[in-house]
Amino acid sequence: MAPHDALDGESLRAAVSRTLGDRAGHVVLVETTASTNDDAKRAAVAGAPARSIFVADAQTAGRGRQGRVWHSPPGDNLYLSIVLRPEAPPTQFAPFALLVGVAVAEEIDAIGGSPAARIKWPNDVWVGDKKIAGILIEASIAGGRVASLVVGIGVNVHTASFPGELATIATSLALLGVVQRDRARLAAGIARRVCDAEARFATAGLAPFLGDVRGRDALLGRPVRVESVEGVAAGIDEAGRLVVRTEDAGDVPVVAGHVELLDAS
Ligand code: BTN
Repeated sequence: MAPHDALDGESLRAAVSRTLGDRAGHVVLVETTASTNDDAKRAAVAGAPARSIFVADAQTAGRGRQGRVWHSPPGDNLYLSIVLRPEAPPTQFAPFALLVGVAVAEEIDAIGGSPAARIKWPNDVWVGDKKIAGILIEASIAGGRVASLVVGIGVNVHTASFPGELATIATSLALLGVVQRDRARLAAGIARRVCDAEARFATAGLAPFLGDVRGRDALLGRPVRVESVEGVAAGIDEAGRLVVRTEDAGDVPVVAGHVELLDAS
């Protein structure tokens, strides 16, 4: 399928230079790759600087969380991975995906995604009850520290119809009627927001972000099941855990897992 926007190296570098300026590391665009997360991880091991950015027009082995495949056809969507090098112990970065979710949601809102994009704890961005973006963060640890963090983000951009069961659970900027759908600008805008969030999070932790995270909580007040815990989602606590209000055990904070929405239509 012909691409719907001009995603080329020059446009991407120009867009990143406008948002990150000289803070940007390498900016790499390829037509097809297995997974931009793998490209970013390999580059990080080889010494790529912080805030290096990897984008592909298509992925042949795009990965989602929990071993799932990430649908990655050419010309349609944004496949972006960012290398970060936070000076912090690995445990501190557990809730970082929430901040990446806020960054992606803010960028979608900024380019006209309406109604407001929200976070589906812990790693998805939703508009309405449909997923518009997914986040896969992979850390490489050395000597008890985070040597690099690869933040992988997939955003559905131009897709007008999704195959199979994706049709009921996914949406895209095109389906939302967003006219400004330039993947280079979207990548650069998200990268700037993610890099700013990382810098602030590394020094101040989650506290300054909690208002934004809670304000975009798509699950609040809704019946959910996370692994064996079932109840009503009662918010995100100060450690970034999802609090599930259960009938038998009161409020149960959940650290990780896939959330099933029990009132989904
Ligand atoms: C999920 O929702 O399960 C996470 C999806 C993450 C997809 C992105 S696309 C860019 C990067 N490369 C990958 O292989 N995966 C992430």
